[in-house]
Formats: sequence, structure tokens, C-alpha cells
Amino acid sequence: MNIKIADLEFEPLISAETILARTKEIAAQLNIDYADKAPIFVGVLNGCFMFMADLLRQINIPCEVAFTKLSSYHGGITTTRRIRDDFDLLVDITNRHVVLVEDIVDTGNTLDYLVAKLSHRKPASITVCALLLKPDAIEYPVEELKHVAFNIPNEFVIGYGLDYLEMGRNLDGIYKRVV
Ligand code: IMP
Repeated sequence: MNIKIADLEFEPLISAETILARTKEIAAQLNIDYADKAPIFVGVLNGCFMFMADLLRQINIPCEVAFTKLSSYHGGITTTRRIRDDFDLLVDITNRHVVLVEDIVDTGNTLDYLVAKLSHRKPASITVCALLLKPDAIEYPVEELKHVAFNIPNEFVIGYGLDYLEMGRNLDGIYKRVV
């Protein structure tokens, strides 16, 4: 079923079942890779909240959970390149293994900024796990991006945490803009 939000219409792209199946695969790999590392999973708000919850439900090793908040789209459908640091990561990550959990990597600008910022705090390692990647939009390749649930076309998407004008985050699947 298509969804209308303000002036835009969206059609289904990835179903809730497909997302969950892929999330389980990534979690299984993380359970192996971090078995004896007590990682800190750091969710990047707001968009990560559903992916973070579903991913962490499948993690069965000792771990911590924390959040930070950045924003760059500021309501539109293209990035503004101005990153706003809304809420800093408050846990000490020195000598700790950090797994950043992102909703979507578009140009990579936000992730590049965050990885650089957290690297200064001398963690043992940083790995990034993203729900979505738009390979055709990447301008800032981030080598720490090791897990991507889905590569998608360079189109605007909502649902499963992602918004348009702050709406649509509650949808259980991912929808793309009808152009
Ligand atoms: P980047 O800095 O260009 O990689 O953009 C990353 C941020 O922009 C994400 O964390 C999202 O908040 C937002 N974003 C990028 N693409 C989309 C999209 O298709 N829908 C909704 N938000 C998006």
C-alpha cells in the first residue's frame, strides 16, 4: 500500500520480514566477531531506533548500549551538509570496542564526521553497522562501515525509523518516494 506524507507519495521497497531476516544475519556475525570484546553499541538517533532495537534483541553476548544524536537533513529530502551535534555520546569509550548503528549512509558526510570525532577518544576499535547504504550517493567513503543490511538506489526513503518531515518513522517497512 502506498503512503502519502504532505506533498510526497511513497511505495513499498523493503518489507518488515525481509528487514528482520537480514538483521538476524548481521547480529549472528556480530555475536561471533565480538564474543569476547564486550562491545558498546552506539545508536545514532533519531533514525536508528527501530533497527537498533531489532538488532540488539538478537545480540546474545555481553555488551553495553548507548546513544548519540546528530542531524543533517533538517526536514528536506536532500542533505544540507550542515551537521548538527544534538546530543553527545556520554559514555567513556577509551580502549573499548564500539559498534556504531546507523539508519542510512547517503553521502557519508555524517558518518565521516562521527567516526573522526569518536576516534579522538581512543577506542580500541570502531565498526559501523548501517541499515541502508546508497552506493551511488557516497562522497565520503568510511572504511569502518563493515556491515550494511541493504544497498538501495539513490532515492529518498522513509519508514523503519526514517522520516520525511518527522513523519513515517513508525512504519514497519521501508518505502521509497514515487517519482
Ligand atoms: P549523509 O550525511 O549524507 O550520509 O546523510 C545521513 C543522514 O541523512 C541519515 O542519518 C539520515 O538522517 C538522513 N538521510 C539520508 N538519506 C535519507 C533518506 O532517504 N530518507 C531519510 N533520511 C535520510
